[in-house]
Amino acid sequence: MMDQFNLRYSRLSKLVLVPLIILPLLILQIASSDLDSDRQSLIAFANSVPHVRELNWNASSSVCSWFGVTCASDSSRVIALRLPGTGLYGPIPANTLGKLDALRTLSLRSNFLSENIPADISNMTFLENLSVQNNNLSGNLPISLPSSLIVVDLSFNSLSGQIPDLNLPKLKRFNISNNNLNGSIPNSLQKFPNTSFAGNSLLCGTPLPPCSRFFLSPSSPPLESSPTPSTRSSTNNLSTGVIIAIAAGILTVLMLLALFVLVCMLRKKSNQSNGVRRAKEKSSNGGRIEKAVEKSSSGAREAEKNKLVFFEGCSYNFDLEDLLRASAEVLGKGSYGTAYKAVLEDGTLVVVKRIKDVTIGKREFEQQMEIIGNIRKHPNVLPLRAYYHSKDEKLLVFDHVPTGSLGFHLHANRESGRTPLNWESRVKIALGTARGLAHIHKEGGSKFTHGNIKSSNILVTQELDTRVTDFGLAPLMNFPAIPRNMVGYRAPELIETGKSSQKSDVYSFGVLLLELLTGKAAVPSIGSEEILDLPRWVQSVVREEWTAEVFDAELMNYPKIEDEMVHMLQIAMACVVKSPDQRLKMDDVIKMITDLGQPDSENRPSSEDRSKDSTLVTSPLEET
Ligand SMILES: *[C@@H]1O[C@H](CO)[C@@H](O)[C@H](O)[C@H]1NC(C)=O
Ligand SMILES: *[C@@H]1O[C@H](CO)[C@@H](O)[C@H](O)[C@H]1NC(C)=O
Repeated sequence: MMDQFNLRYSRLSKLVLVPLIILPLLILQIASSDLDSDRQSLIAFANSVPHVRELNWNASSSVCSWFGVTCASDSSRVIALRLPGTGLYGPIPANTLGKLDALRTLSLRSNFLSENIPADISNMTFLENLSVQNNNLSGNLPISLPSSLIVVDLSFNSLSGQIPDLNLPKLKRFNISNNNLNGSIPNSLQKFPNTSFAGNSLLCGTPLPPCSRFFLSPSSPPLESSPTPSTRSSTNNLSTGVIIAIAAGILTVLMLLALFVLVCMLRKKSNQSNGVRRAKEKSSNGGRIEKAVEKSSSGAREAEKNKLVFFEGCSYNFDLEDLLRASAEVLGKGSYGTAYKAVLEDGTLVVVKRIKDVTIGKREFEQQMEIIGNIRKHPNVLPLRAYYHSKDEKLLVFDHVPTGSLGFHLHANRESGRTPLNWESRVKIALGTARGLAHIHKEGGSKFTHGNIKSSNILVTQELDTRVTDFGLAPLMNFPAIPRNMVGYRAPELIETGKSSQKSDVYSFGVLLLELLTGKAAVPSIGSEEILDLPRWVQSVVREEWTAEVFDAELMNYPKIEDEMVHMLQIAMACVVKSPDQRLKMDDVIKMITDLGQPDSENRPSSEDRSKDSTLVTSPLEET
């Protein structure tokens, strides 16, 4: 009896007690082996990633006491690694940090780490904070990141490609600004502010400007659904997106088919009977490329709606569909609407202006476009390449000039170490602008005006070549209105009557010259109290005979240019005289600027294109 009991007891004790004792031992051993593995991962990392600052990760001391390393409270695992500004450089090797699978915080910001973010980062299934901003990481983002993440900062790297639709349900802060990412922002990340995405010129969609949605009228179905993230599950979004994409695809194919059939039919038809009429139409259109079709058949009317009208001499080869698919970035909001930089799928770069508040009818609009489109073939004019007109959208397509406007070069970051435009450059820009404007006046006819001369509409290339843009658009709007941000450039009679003329363009050009000379803005800029009426200010200063005071201080370091500056000032003042009839003509202006500083031209070898006949610069100030 007793034996039996003992036997039973000892069996029981074996069954129960042995595991009770062994299990904790086992756990302890596993724990220490994990810490040991963390240690080895860290050592592998330190050995393969050069670093400027010494880490002093001493093999004989405990991992948990190492610089930048934090362990869990029971010292069982490494849970944080913080090495900001440690001078780490080169790639992060796989199988090093990726093995720290208990890590909650990984901060490697402000180093020189480069190449891809290793994919094994997704093994860190407890990671909450990933801060690797201010490095040189490149390549695509990993397709998956730990779903435990709460803070992700990847800003100021060189990451490229599209942002994958990361599934990060706990994410509170996300910053991927200042990389080279492109494409649209996934739905799940659209709740973050635009500063989270800024500085990726090819990124688009909420919260950034839409991805080429400038064609989508309120009546047409949206290209991509953009519901508030909280109201719909992501699977819902996905299926809606897929459905819309499929529908759009089918629609596109159908429309292309219809267009193809139509074009074939028309080719036949025009070859037979309509040749004469079409030829007539073409010549009266000033040779614009008609991708369109006749208005008689009903299908043609559909095609007509989606017609992008190109002008002759334009080498672009895309259509509305292509523009629709392009990614777009807002360049700026101008007097007449918003300008976008659009990147087509084949990499073509164009500027698309979306015109608001057009008050005239389609016919008049097209007539004005014809006039504008035919002003071209001049090196100082930015030509209109194509336009689009529908009830809800009016679009203009231009070449992209990458470097910026005169206004930008003249006024942006004056304080902060910018290289100022020197006198040579300013003369070159003044001359280019004068030539461009004279060409516009000549080609457009005596009634045609630029209507919006100001420094932000003078584009300047790397070589300081000038392109005058944004001309001839005022007649599209009926408001007695001159764009508000043109205030400082408006001629007195323009303010009174609201009617622009070539004379009022000359006035605006004169203000532009004053801007070049004084370095002062003619429109109020944010945070500065600039003088609005430059001509009046200059007159008052000159009357007091402190002429030198009017010139831009940035020009004062250049020797021997004062005479030229005074002459330029006289030209400017002769453009801004009150009476329109007494103002210079653009041709005179060109001649006078060309002759500027003629007597000592040997000092200025780069101004090769100055005319040789030396007309004395009269002083228009004294004349009028
Ligand atoms: C950044 O990385 C690229 C290659 O990925 C390299 O060519 C470049 O030198 C790196 N720049 C710096 C500052 O480390
Ligand atoms: C993202 O980082 C940039 C640069 O550090 C900063 O200017 C911006 O405010 C940040 N945005 C957010 C939402 O954290």
